[in-house]
Amino acid sequence: MRLIVALTGATGVVLGVRLLQALKDIGDMETHLIVSKWGQQTLEHETTVTLTGLRELASHTYSPGDMTAALSSGSFGIDGMVIVPCSMRTLAAVTYGYGDNLIHRAADVTLKEQRPLVVVPRETPLSATHLENMLRLARAGVTILPPMPAFYNHPATVEEIVDHVVGRILDQLGITTSLSVRWSGEMKRS
Ligand SMILES: Cc1cc2nc3c(=O)[nH]c(=O)nc-3n(C[C@H](O)[C@H](O)[C@H](O)COP(=O)(O)O)c2cc1C
Repeated sequence: MRLIVALTGATGVVLGVRLLQALKDIGDMETHLIVSKWGQQTLEHETTVTLTGLRELASHTYSPGDMTAALSSGSFGIDGMVIVPCSMRTLAAVTYGYGDNLIHRAADVTLKEQRPLVVVPRETPLSATHLENMLRLARAGVTILPPMPAFYNHPATVEEIVDHVVGRILDQLGITTSLSVRWSGEMKRS
């Protein structure tokens, strides 16, 4: 599979890091990584992963300002794109087709070519503008997957919460993993 993974400047950048690790572990995945300027800043602030270390997890990497990249064109076939985490700025740019950088452009191309696009927005609380942008994208066929933790699986660590979200992202791309603990239908009895 050939996937684009974009990390932007919202908190929760670990979700993008973990997604790339998971895709690398699965193997046979061609990943194309773009990290926005503010994505790089949050990576540095929130994790111990360096930009170089992050890039080593991907098959190919691009500068967010590189509009000459193959990803800028619909002629470059991909199987899907994930923006994780997705800032409200990037959400707005994708909603309105404002191709200001390679992330926005690649998402615009993914939409016009009717390929799977998963957006993992991170902001709270959400304004009417944020919600309207998400609704427009959902109506255009985009999967809006807020990184909301589940508690029915009794997560004990932040890593388990992160893995659950990453597993749900991969589910959307038709990639089945054991990262998410699935609801068994069995309620805990007291
Ligand atoms: C530490 C930090 C955390 C941030 N968290 C968020 C967030 O959760 N959601 C959001 O929309 N913006 C957040 N921002 C603001 C964005 O980084 C800012 O709007 C930026 O312009 C986004 O640009 P980008 O979409 O190109 O990465 C945060 C900024 C910093 C420095």
